[in-house]
Amino acid sequence: MNRPYTFINVAMTADGKIDTAERKGAAISSKQDKERVDQLRAGADAILVGGKTLLEELPKLTVRSEALREGRIQQGRSPNPIKVGVVTVADIPIDSDFVKVGNARVVIFTTSRTSKTQVERLRTHGVEIFTEDAARVDLVKMMATLKQVGVERLVVEGGGTINFELMRLGLVDELMVYIAPLVFGGINAPTLADGLGVPRDMAIELKLMDVEKWEDGGVVLKYKIR
Ligand SMILES: NC(=O)c1ccc[n+]([C@@H]2O[C@H](COP(=O)([O-])OP(=O)(O)OC[C@H]3O[C@@H](n4cnc5c(N)ncnc54)[C@H](OP(=O)(O)O)[C@@H]3O)[C@@H](O)[C@H]2O)c1
Repeated sequence: MNRPYTFINVAMTADGKIDTAERKGAAISSKQDKERVDQLRAGADAILVGGKTLLEELPKLTVRSEALREGRIQQGRSPNPIKVGVVTVADIPIDSDFVKVGNARVVIFTTSRTSKTQVERLRTHGVEIFTEDAARVDLVKMMATLKQVGVERLVVEGGGTINFELMRLGLVDELMVYIAPLVFGGINAPTLADGLGVPRDMAIELKLMDVEKWEDGGVVLKYKIR
């Protein structure tokens, strides 16, 4: 397989929203779910987010638990997975948590719409950048590059647009969903998979592998993508 084994992980409400319509990165995960995600991150070589999530939230994307980071070091790995962003214009502040926190490798896939000055600025601060002379990043090529730089296990952490695009292109192996006992509503609130959608006969088919019912009222669903 010319790409990493890829998981999408999502925290959503019972009505399928992954944020409120305000799109400010609303908290959805419970304490137990944050621990589950931390384990998932600790087992990964890289964590990827889409451009909107990256630029609007500048997430740290690190392993929170010191014990899990220590466990990685003992296996001869870096304490944190590689942070990966896919963004048309990479206007990422160099002093942001995304770039600075956790002493992790940072890899950005972007287009020639990112200025040369910005590319140089990011490179000077240790960010690895792959630039394409196209309107959008080619996600198939991006996955092959990730494999080449040593990523065997990739966790995708949203948002809805990148989740959908990767699934549509057949680039995802597993989908994990924490469903919180909440409803956000809102026609403009992002969902697990946004983008343009597919007609019924092209629906992405899943195989349910596991269901967990938690004390906090949440449910975790684990699917394989067929
Ligand atoms: N609850 C959760 O689990 C969770 C996790 C993450 C995010 N979120 C939420 O999700 C929302 C953001 O989701 P979103 O759907 O707006 O954005 P997104 O999926 O985070 O990012 C989409 C962006 O990725 C960039 N991109 C570059 N090349 C692409 C390509 N070939 N195909 C597709 N996208 C490409 C584009 O950036 P350009 O716009 O630069 O072209 C596109 O707009 C936020 O509200 C955030 O809080 C929730």
